[in-house]
Amino acid sequence: MNTSGSAPTKPDTVPTEPEHVFDWLDTEADKRAAAGLVRRLRPRGSDAGELDLAGNDYLGLARDKRVAGAAAAAALRWGAGATGSRLVTGSTELHAELEHELARFCGAQAALVFSSGFAANLGAVTALTGAEAAIVTDRYIHASLIEGCRLSRADVAVVAHCDPAAVAHALATRRKRRALVVTDSVFSVDGDLAPLGELAATCREHGVALLVDDAHGLGVLGDGGRGAVHEAGLAGAPNVVTTVTLSKSLGAQGGAVLGPRRVIRHLVDTARSFIFDTALAPASAAAALAALGVLKAEPELPGRVCAAAGELSARLGAAGLSVTAPAAAVVSVSAPSPDEAVGWAARCAEHGVRVGCFRPPSVPDGVSRLRLTARADLTEADLDRAVSVITDTAPPAAR
Ligand SMILES: Cc1ncc(COP(=O)(O)O)c(C=O)c1O
Repeated sequence: MNTSGSAPTKPDTVPTEPEHVFDWLDTEADKRAAAGLVRRLRPRGSDAGELDLAGNDYLGLARDKRVAGAAAAAALRWGAGATGSRLVTGSTELHAELEHELARFCGAQAALVFSSGFAANLGAVTALTGAEAAIVTDRYIHASLIEGCRLSRADVAVVAHCDPAAVAHALATRRKRRALVVTDSVFSVDGDLAPLGELAATCREHGVALLVDDAHGLGVLGDGGRGAVHEAGLAGAPNVVTTVTLSKSLGAQGGAVLGPRRVIRHLVDTARSFIFDTALAPASAAAALAALGVLKAEPELPGRVCAAAGELSARLGAAGLSVTAPAAAVVSVSAPSPDEAVGWAARCAEHGVRVGCFRPPSVPDGVSRLRLTARADLTEADLDRAVSVITDTAPPAAR
């Protein structure tokens, strides 16, 4: 408020005409174009006839009739939307059943469903920390966890990738007593696996909590797809909290936090991305429940995803490309530059193979890549086609 009585002075950099107020966006867009970082939406048809190596539908369940049919039936029974936030009218019996089944499947005491994995991560990180806490994170965690750290007001130490000794050092030198160590299980860009056992042991030693984002582990790793946390023997551990998305292996939409009952109770009372957000649509809850049912009935699906990812990686590597060894479904192929990555992905699409193209700022290390995702329903013919298109269209500098 201006209390001096004099007219406020205008900053001289602000344009006077209203039509100029967003001129700076064009300047920013020009800079992104010069750096090869323009992003384009490419709406797909319902049956594009492409070989999809870009989506996260690892088990091929998004279009499975049992899953899509459950979503359709739930929409007709419960309505197209949830009608309100979870604490008002948005919690249906479907949400409660999904939470019960998710917790049971993954071996956690309890679960809480959010409208997305992003919201689950924001809610878990902020509600479990705050200004009185310290956070120690791997430097390659997912953007949703990074946003949670930023919103948390905690002291945040970002440490080297997959480095339990660096985590231990940050914990030993922290200034706040309460602390949360945050990591992805399978890292979304390169598809490598965090040393969860060592991280959990470090957390136990220091008496702090571990939060693992198992978005890419659920449905792919662990006994019958129970996830990387389960595989590491940490399911039900009293100091471990897991977040998952329902939008990858489960082919649906939404997210969840799994952990000790008192953690879930705390989130219901305090997680702002839970409280002030319309609940997950009943159709998505029903789809995720049906997908869990398929996973339980067909426990061989996760193994097929990993086998396909391994084969893709081995064959592309043998063709001279720089490719990661996948821990789960994600295979990453280095590209020489952002522009070359975009051109390469476009040439793959022209040949009917859709691949992901990751460039800064989506990649933490500044290296542009094609990101490929394997699926349980890929055939040998699909893999042959994928390998030949990706290698035939590769820029010379990719080898
Ligand atoms: C590691 C990781 N965490 C969280 C999310 C966010 O999940 P959702 O897409 O359900 O918001 C994603 C997905 O994009 C992810 O890859």
